[in-house]
Parts: sequence; structure tokens; C-alpha cells
Amino acid sequence: MTMRLDRFLTSQTALTRRACCDAVRQGRVTVNGSACRQPEQKITPGADSVTLDGKPVQYSEFHYFLMHKPCGVITASRDRHAKTVLDLLKPEDRLPGLFACGRLDKDTSGLLLITDDGQLSHRLLSPKHHVTKYYLVQLSRPFEPSYIDTLREGITLRDGAKEEQCLPAECEQIGERMCVIGLHEGRYHQVRRSFAALGNHVENLLRVRIGGLDLPPELPPGGYLAIFTKEVERMLNPSSISLAAAFCRRQYSSYWIKEPV
Ligand code: URA
Repeated sequence: MTMRLDRFLTSQTALTRRACCDAVRQGRVTVNGSACRQPEQKITPGADSVTLDGKPVQYSEFHYFLMHKPCGVITASRDRHAKTVLDLLKPEDRLPGLFACGRLDKDTSGLLLITDDGQLSHRLLSPKHHVTKYYLVQLSRPFEPSYIDTLREGITLRDGAKEEQCLPAECEQIGERMCVIGLHEGRYHQVRRSFAALGNHVENLLRVRIGGLDLPPELPPGGYLAIFTKEVERMLNPSSISLAAAFCRRQYSSYWIKEPV
């Protein structure tokens, strides 16, 4: 596959098409070691080596950033008033076509994938592909063991006269007011509404795992990392509530409060 040099640069950097063309015409771009001043020059991504201002421009068909979404930021690509997760990216990482894969509420923090790979996003989000999302939940009242069976049977969410039947969800208690829940679908405010239907209230919510990939404990809220195919594929691996709960006991059992586990 060949591609015009200006298109290649536009797809692999955060510069606009015009800025890429200017950089080429100004002699700031090399292809296989020689300056190339023609934006229309055809190159083979991955085979030809390209530099911009002396720095290699690596080729990837798709890009993946793993973010620890903080509370207070919305999961949208653009918003006139509120700060979005894409605003947290450094200017050089704001590549064209990036979007957040799935939604976390404004008041929910945790693991969020930002990518330009629509097909992968569909596989992660469609209930057909069974990618479980795990959340650490802090409740305002003590966890009741009876929640486990109710959630396993599939809880019914009511909104006025409207009823929504959820798919079975797994849940494990990890503290007096803390538990981990695994969902196979992503309904609007599903965790908060499920615990409200159980007569409790979610005080804090952190997404800790997608499939087989955990939220890196060293990643602070607002931080993010570029990840590559091997890690992305871990999201498609099967997982289990006991693995997610064990991870939370090790890493996140005192995330919001100190309590005996
Ligand atoms: N469930 C919720 O209630 N909120 C989220 O952000 C994700 C799942």
C-alpha cells in the first residue's frame, strides 16, 4: 500500500494537512534519509522511514491510548462548555479520528480507551462479544450479600412506567461498603441505577478492568499511556469477577477510604 507523504504525516501526527505540507516544502521531512519537498510523493508506510524535524514518524494503522479518566471530565469528543477526555491529551497526541470507546459518567473515574479503531471499539462495546467491564463501587450503606443473587439473575431497572431488564451481572464484596461488579453491557448509568434499585447508593465508581486488562495502578487520574496491539488484545480476553476482585483487593481496596477488607 502506498500513500501520499502529506496524508501519511497528517494521519500519524497531530499537525493539520496544511502544516504537514508546509513542513515538507520547508525541507523538514526526510524519506529514507533524504529531504523530500514534494507533499504528493508516494511512500510505503511501515517500509519507508520518515522523519519530521529529525524525529522518526512511526507508522501505526490505528492508535490506542489507555486513560485513567478523572471525575469531572466528560466522555465526549468535543463540548463547548465542559472539559472532555480528548482535551486531556497532549497537543502532539491529538491525532485525527480519535474518540473514546464507550462512556463513563462525568462522576465516574477509571479505565477508558481512546482510539481511532472503530472496528475494535465495536468489538469491545457490543454485548455479542462478551467483553466484561469491571467497576469498583463504594456504597453509602453496607453491602448486602443478597445483592449477588439479584444481580446474577438480571436486575430490572425502572424509570417511571418504563422497565429495563438487564443481563446477568457478577458481583463480589471486597469491603463493608465496597464491591466489584462485572457488566456485559453498557446501559445508561447502569451501576448507579442497579444499586439504587437494590436500595443502596453509589458514592464512588471506578472502572478497574476491561476484559483481561487492568487499570494500571501507577497511572494517576488524568494520566494516559500509548498502548500497542498486545495490550489491546488483552481487553478481548475472557476474565472473571474473582480476578477483578483479587486485583482490587491488592491495588484499590483503600482507594477512597481505609476500611478492613
Ligand atoms: N455505570 C454507571 O452508572 N456509570 C458509569 O460511568 C459506568 C457504568
